[in-house]
Amino acid sequence: MTDEITALQHFDDASLDAAFTTLADEVRTTAAATASTDPEAFRLHWLGRKQGRLKLISEAWLKSAPPEAKKALGIRFNQLKQQIEATLEAPASAPAKSAVQGIDITLPGTLRTPGIPHPLLKTMHEIVSVFHHLGYSTNLGPQVESDFYNFEALNFPENHPARDTQDTLVIAAQQSRPSRDRLLMRTHTSPVQIRTMIASAPPIRIVIPGKVHRNDAADATHSPIFHQIEGLCVDTNITFSDLKGTLDHAMKALFGSDVKTRFFPSFFPFTEPSADVQISCIFCGGKGCRKCKHSGWIELLGCGMVDPAVFAAVTAERRKLDPADDAHNPEKITGFAFGMGVERIAMIQHGISDIGYFYSGDMRFLEQFA
Ligand code: DAH
Repeated sequence: MTDEITALQHFDDASLDAAFTTLADEVRTTAAATASTDPEAFRLHWLGRKQGRLKLISEAWLKSAPPEAKKALGIRFNQLKQQIEATLEAPASAPAKSAVQGIDITLPGTLRTPGIPHPLLKTMHEIVSVFHHLGYSTNLGPQVESDFYNFEALNFPENHPARDTQDTLVIAAQQSRPSRDRLLMRTHTSPVQIRTMIASAPPIRIVIPGKVHRNDAADATHSPIFHQIEGLCVDTNITFSDLKGTLDHAMKALFGSDVKTRFFPSFFPFTEPSADVQISCIFCGGKGCRKCKHSGWIELLGCGMVDPAVFAAVTAERRKLDPADDAHNPEKITGFAFGMGVERIAMIQHGISDIGYFYSGDMRFLEQFA
């Protein structure tokens, strides 16, 4: 460490570079000796306001420098200062033996937030898992679907209101195609029932989670894109009691064993008879509150026994490949189906009042499900 300040004789670039290289080396030498063990001594030595070496040298050299060299000198002093500051800020770059002393263990660590499943996915997994435990497997289908699978094979009459373009988002430029081949965004997961039955003979036990689309205006309970889980069970001797027992079990598994279910007559073109399933209000236990509109019950899903017309449509398709196919003959087999809205169930599970939260990407909302 040299303390005396040698006056500069020459101010051309080469001489300045040489002088500053010596100083940079000196910074490195003093850094190796003190920067990590005693950073304050290192700082005072170089940057001290009154006796700091940088200050003394710059005063001495600038004083004797010709005016045209002052800029070149200034630039080099700034670089030197940056080198000294960088040495002070980076204790980790100091020699290994003293690096440990450079770590301030009282500083907060770098927080890494691991990703979590989206609340809708979480609810989907929960529902699917309840049915996996009953021996169901999972099927998926396309979101861009044909009129045949989405409506025709599901026994929707030609002028059923659900086919109306008010509800259904259709793919453009399909008019030249036969009506059964026209493409649309699927309005429900039920078309995958048809795809599954065309592909496989009974016994069938599947759940179908997925995205569906409707030309609905978004409000607190509607979204043009939402999620459903469909179920289908087809075998010999499947009865309405099996449907009731299965869904009663599923609702208890999802909402707690105190929950009661009741089945209300309803209508869907692809089931006969059809029912809406209600559960006793999980907020008031059935006494009646604002959430259940003082009825004590919350409507949760649609279901029913597979309509023979659906089996007939499936059989007609399968016979195109095997004219003798009789696997879905409604005289021999029966089945039940059900469909539920994932958003609606997640909203009830978590007491969420606006469906829009699911799609907002607002971390304050999403973090609550971590
Ligand atoms: N697909 C119906 C809908 O989107 C829901 C549904 C009702 C599905 C009854 C079913 C069922 O499988 O049996 O409104």
